[in-house]
Amino acid sequence: MLILSPSILAADFKRLGEQIAETTQAGAEYIHLDVMDGMFVPQISFGMPVIETIRGCTDKVFDVHLMIEDPGRYIEAFAKAGADIITVHAEACTHLDRVIGQIKAAGKKAGVALNPATPLCALDYVLDGLDMVLIMTVNPGFGGQKLIPYCLQKVKDLRALCKKRGIQMDIQVDGGIKASNTKEVIEAGANVLVGGSAVFSGDVAENTKAFMDVFAQMNDL
Ligand code: DX5
Ligand code: ZN
Repeated sequence: MLILSPSILAADFKRLGEQIAETTQAGAEYIHLDVMDGMFVPQISFGMPVIETIRGCTDKVFDVHLMIEDPGRYIEAFAKAGADIITVHAEACTHLDRVIGQIKAAGKKAGVALNPATPLCALDYVLDGLDMVLIMTVNPGFGGQKLIPYCLQKVKDLRALCKKRGIQMDIQVDGGIKASNTKEVIEAGANVLVGGSAVFSGDVAENTKAFMDVFAQMNDL
């Protein structure tokens, strides 16, 4: 299934509830929540209180992307705040296997994110236990960047690896995703697409619909 996961990092925070409703009414199934700690990435965004507050606005899937050091410290707290999927960076975990176990023990879907320069082999031994892999298509930390083209090769390689190992898994891409490159990233093997500025700059409903139109075309192929 092709899924759009709008990243609220690019939303108008004064109108967060309304903007979430606009994108979900136009077809977005997930809401992508970028948590930044000022350590793993330079910026600080938001944390549990914001997630808890907007949990009341929608029953769509909360897709929480933790760009924080040593995320194992906070898995339980994000689960309680309303996360459905918790994605941690392989680069931020000394004990990745343990953190994946913590996410599962909290009853949530487990995702692992890889920065552009991190090779797929970092996931060799944990891949089977994951619900989603997030292939970062920019260096994390900021919205509005351009997709790094070689990351699409990593998406292709991961999809091929999953096929070879008989694993059905979601592959998410995040960073520089727009309606205009959606076809290309889906063809590479991604099925969960994060859109920040491409969804929230301008008319949110129209922007979401532009993604949905490409999804419909791809489903018809
Ligand atoms: C980047 C974040 C992204 C960001 C994407 O570090 O993980 O989710 O919001 O923004 P765009 O789609 O504008 O590149
Ligand atoms: Zn993200």
